[in-house]
Order: sequence, then C-alpha cells, then structure tokens
Amino acid sequence: MSKIYELTVEACEPGDIITYHPMRLAAALRIKDVNRLAVETNLMGDKALVTIYPHDPLARVIPNHPQMLVMDDRGRIWIGRYHNGRPSLLRLYDPQSGSAQRLLLFGTTGAGKSTAGQIILAAMKRSGIAVLYADLKGGQSAPEAFGQSGHGSDGNVAWRVTTQEGTMAQLRTTWLTMMDRQERYSRMGRSKFLRDRPDPLIYQIVDEANRLLERGAPYRDEATFYIKDIGRTGRSLGIGIGLFAQAGHLEEMGGSDTLRAMLKEGEVVLLRWTSSMMKQLVTDGLLPTGMVLAPIPKYAGEADLVSQFDEEQQDDDLPGTQGTAYNVNGRYPSSKMRFWSIGSHIPTEGLDPMVLDLYGPGAPPEIEQVAWDLIGDAYGRRLDGMAAYRAVFPEPDEDEEGEDGGGKKNGSGGSRAASPVPAAVPKPRARTLRDRIQAVLDAHDDPLDALQILELVNADGGRAVKLGSVRNTLTAIRN
Ligand SMILES: Nc1ncnc2c1ncn2[C@@H]1O[C@H](COP(=O)(O)OP(=O)(O)OP(=O)(O)O)[C@@H](O)[C@H]1O
Ligand SMILES: [Mg+2]
Repeated sequence: MSKIYELTVEACEPGDIITYHPMRLAAALRIKDVNRLAVETNLMGDKALVTIYPHDPLARVIPNHPQMLVMDDRGRIWIGRYHNGRPSLLRLYDPQSGSAQRLLLFGTTGAGKSTAGQIILAAMKRSGIAVLYADLKGGQSAPEAFGQSGHGSDGNVAWRVTTQEGTMAQLRTTWLTMMDRQERYSRMGRSKFLRDRPDPLIYQIVDEANRLLERGAPYRDEATFYIKDIGRTGRSLGIGIGLFAQAGHLEEMGGSDTLRAMLKEGEVVLLRWTSSMMKQLVTDGLLPTGMVLAPIPKYAGEADLVSQFDEEQQDDDLPGTQGTAYNVNGRYPSSKMRFWSIGSHIPTEGLDPMVLDLYGPGAPPEIEQVAWDLIGDAYGRRLDGMAAYRAVFPEPDEDEEGEDGGGKKNGSGGSRAASPVPAAVPKPRARTLRDRIQAVLDAHDDPLDALQILELVNADGGRAVKLGSVRNTLTAIRN
C-alpha cells in the first residue's frame, strides 16, 4: 500500500455545508491511523478534498538548512509544511502596508508552543528583527533564546526576561520605543514604516502569556494596557507583538474587548487544544464562523485493541503529534501543518547545539540607538526582575526628592512625560491560592485529583503550597 488516494466530495444540496468527524470518517474508510487522512474544505464549506496517505504525511518534517528561515520579500517566514508538502508560511511583516503583525500561538500544555516559538525567534534573528522576549516560565521554555548582556554583545534575542516584573519593564520599553518612533516619523512626514530605513522591525514576544494576563495575575491590568496599545499602534510603526499561551478563553487573556479585537485580526496558529479551549476560541470569535477544524490527536500511529491474552503484545510508545497545528491565516487554514522538527533527538545536558545552529552565531539585531537614552537602563543593562521594573517605573517620590537622582539617573525621567499610564509602581495584587487553583482548573479539561492540582499549582512559578491548603481551598471553591 503505497498509493495516495484523493477524493473530491460535494454537499448533497446547494447551500449545505460539509461537516465531518475525523475518527468516524477514518473508521468508515477502514483507516486505523487517523493521521493518514487529510480533509480540506473550501471557504463556502460545500466542497472537500479528502486525501488518504499510505503513512502519516507529517511524521517527519525536517528543515533543510537554517538559512531557509529567513523572511522572504513578502515578509513571510517558512515555519513548517502542510501534509501535501507545501510550505506553511507565517507573516511577520507586510511590505505593502508597511505593517508589523500580531502573532498568537495557542495550544494546550506540551503541544509545542515554545518550540514553535524558537523557530519563530530564530527566523527573527536571521531576518534582522530585534526581539524582546519574555519567558514567564523562568527561562525554561526556550533556554537557547538567551538575551544579550548589553549593547553589541552576543545573544539570540536582544533582551530576555524571565519574571513578571521584567516582562512589565519590557512592555513599557517597547511602548516607549513605539512612542518615540511615532514622534520621529511624524516629524519626517512618514505615514508608513519602512523596514530598516532606518529602524529595524521589532517584536515583543511573551511566552506563557496566560501567566501575565490570567485572573489574579499581579500586573494583569497594566499588561493588558500595554499589549492593547502596542497591538493597536505598533503595527504602522514596525513594532509587532506575539503571545504564546495555553489560554482557553479570553477572560484568561486580559478579557478586554480591545484585546479581543486585536487577537481577532492577528496571525493565529492553533496547536493541539482541549475541547473547552476550542469552544471558547470559536465563541470568542477568534476563528472565522463556520470554520471546522478536526482535532489534533495527542498521538500518531495505530492504536489497536489487542487481546488481553496475547503474549506478543508490544507496548511501544506511540509517536506524539507535538508541533502539529493549524495556521489559521495561512494559505490553507483548515489543513493540518507541522512546524519543523528541531533539536537533538535525545535531550542534551545544556543548551541544544542543534537549536543554537538555527539562530546562528553572533549578536542579534537591537532596538535603534536613537531610542536608547529615552528607554533607559532596564534595556541598556538588560535588567530583569524588580531592578528592571524600578528602572522603568520609578517611584514618584524618588524622583521628586531626588534622593539619588531617581528616575533621571536611570534614564527614564524624560520618558515619563509622554506616558498616559501610571508613572508610579503599580502595586502588584497578591494572587490568592484560590486564583492559582482556579487557573489550573480552567486550563484542564480532564478531571484532576488534589495531588495533580498540587503539582500543577506548585509548578506555576508562585509560592510553594502544601496539599492541605489545596484541599481546603478546593472545598471552598466547591461550596
Ligand atoms: N517542532 C518541534 N520539534 C521537535 N520537538 C518538538 C517540537 N515541538 C514540540 N516538541 C517536543 O515536545 C515537547 C513539548 O514542547 P514545548 O515545550 O514546545 O510545548 P509547550 O506547548 O510550550 O508546553 P508548555 O505548555 O509545557 O510550555 C518538547 O520538549 C519537544 O521535545
Ligand atoms: Mg512552553
């Protein structure tokens, strides 16, 4: 069996749309591995193309050479391929309108968001894009995406932070850079951003963005303000934003209407999801109405029922489907694609040399020098944590009393005049255990027991808690 079969299907009655369940279709066609089947529907939904492959066509998706990650002259990067071998492209820049994009990578835990993110980050370094990268998993999501230590030094992104405070400092830095560009461009009489003439395209990326934006997160409101404003205003100034998240619904993503609008117009990639997450994405209008996407199973390959008494029974692990996704704004939104498979086969002790190769050696592109004085020390010294935060959000009394030069010394004094948002350090709201447990429950479809919840809560980057407290809070939530 080595042939590929292709069937064209049409709805019975004019006006009908084709709906199908991938498992049922596979069963009807006597196909045991649902991954061998690809179904593509047209925009009207009344025609479909069913392709049956002899093997899972997305089992091995290997990039030929890192150079192929470089953005093409239409502003697109090559992130992987479709089942039919065609390239899957993601737009980072639209040269016609001169605009940067808003990227969204959604998927459940382990679906491959951060790895897909590394492909995008490497493509950005190779394409001359300056990247501010916040990893709210403490730097564990993409260790190879390490940042510069100062101007001109080596790194794979211009600035990486790994804390909530560092992320806020980055968002404000990106926002100040944007304001500076707005002023400079209007003086030049420019309505459009022209890449590298003279400023680089910039991207602000937040991995695990749900931790920044979920209910009870300490800087949720401020972060929502910056993300919204960068999303709205940054486009025509060459400043894009990318969020990688496992959020199921927009309430967990800041929840505001403007953010919703921003997400709706963004470049969306959906990795494996949970059913509640998909429902929410559809009801929240993130997906075009009528779009039918077959779920991505967790494993590929045939899982057959074997007699309990069969001694020959094999218990080989089935291959996973991580990195498989729908590129919703790409050429074939309802066709499965897979991100390049990257990295060494066996986990490496330290940074993975194969991933480092994707980025290539040397210094990454940086924010333009004309903005350095304005955006200040947090960027200049590539700070993180509270130090970064204080450098961009100086306490008002520090400045007024001029104890140690305050805001002026750290270079952010001049910037504050241009800011409509609180100049004082916003007081982080303490996240209660209830908030943290609720976030875990919201992110999981399957029932969890108290021990699993304890483990997930303790992995969220907050204070360590005990099983008893989790049990008590669960009782309170239930009542
Ligand atoms: N494109 C890929 N190429 C090779 N391996 C991949 C790819 N995508 C995912 N993987 C594998 O799957 C694992 C999980 O992927 P990743 O950490 O990117 O998922 P995630 O969605 O970011 O998960 P989390 O929610 O835990 O952050 C990785 O450790 C990696 O081994
Ligand atoms: Mg991740």
